[in-house]
Amino acid sequence: MTLFCPPCAGEGVRSALSTALQCTTCGRQWPVLAAGTDFIAVLVPDPDAAARMVALVSAMLRDPGLLAAWADSEEALESALAGGLLTYAQAHFGAHASPPLPSADLGWLARAWTDELPQGDVAVLGCATAGEAWALRQAPALRDRALWLVDANLAALAWGQMLFDNGSVVLPYRRSATLIAWRTAQLPGPAPNVRWLCADALFPPFAPASLAAVVTVNLLDSVADPLALVQQVEALLAPGGAWIVASPWNWQARVTPVGRQLERHVAADDLEEGMVELLTGRTLAGLGTALAVQWRADDVPWRLQVHPRYAAEYRLQVLRIRKSG
Ligand SMILES: C[S@@+](CC[C@H](N)C(=O)[O-])C[C@H]1O[C@@H](n2cnc3c(N)ncnc32)[C@H](O)[C@@H]1O
Repeated sequence: MTLFCPPCAGEGVRSALSTALQCTTCGRQWPVLAAGTDFIAVLVPDPDAAARMVALVSAMLRDPGLLAAWADSEEALESALAGGLLTYAQAHFGAHASPPLPSADLGWLARAWTDELPQGDVAVLGCATAGEAWALRQAPALRDRALWLVDANLAALAWGQMLFDNGSVVLPYRRSATLIAWRTAQLPGPAPNVRWLCADALFPPFAPASLAAVVTVNLLDSVADPLALVQQVEALLAPGGAWIVASPWNWQARVTPVGRQLERHVAADDLEEGMVELLTGRTLAGLGTALAVQWRADDVPWRLQVHPRYAAEYRLQVLRIRKSG
């Protein structure tokens, strides 16, 4: 699959990257993290942030003790890299640590999934440490196509790659609000074949209509512009493609400005139905007009342990949405 330059796409130019990840229009050479069996291209829109993230994560892979310093850091990038890795390594793979750690149940994802897909690759946007890929590893439709795991957090991706490459890894987790500890984690079976990509879901480096399915779990209410994300997913899907979306609709003004919070655009008396209408073209002109809901579950439990004395209980709305063929 050809990848595209995110800043050029932001300026309305669809410019392909060469196999060496050089933009054929602006000439930028994009960095990669080359720590696992496959490189991880870092295609976040700000090239300086991309280079800095590669430097930081390379250093952390050489010296995992840096993670504790990042968790305490007042520097936004370090603290975000550490926070995402610590929370989702445990949430996605804590059950395979020895002894096991409390983890989140992603079992519902296989029920929401469909193997009836058009041609094309599949992308999980906002995958953190790759729990979705592990939950879907037995899906027949994923055998003969590329599964792209995409996140803006390179530390979470690099850790997930180590686990998938080796079948085991040392899992970092919060032993308390301030202390980090480590436990060996081992997958109970082979990891799926995946491609790792560090990118911004709001500036995805994929061609329009190139994806057979997109999975976004807990992403819509984690981005600054969910309306733009819905438009991006709709554009990325091939005709007949599926979008599996799950969210607790836990809007926070520090993440998503109030006017961009999807829920503000729907009738308050039936939020779940309102969100279905919004995502399928019946609320805002030009948003979701090619989309229809095929399957839904409005109340799926989702528990995230931050540390042993602090866990968050969410209820997710899970939808399988189909783009018209
Ligand atoms: C709430 S977490 C969900 C992680 C995982 N999908 C789950 O549900 O367990 C949101 C994830 O999306 C990533 N993320 C947030 N904004 C993003 C963006 N604009 N582009 C790509 N990833 C993003 C974060 O780094 C984080 O890993």
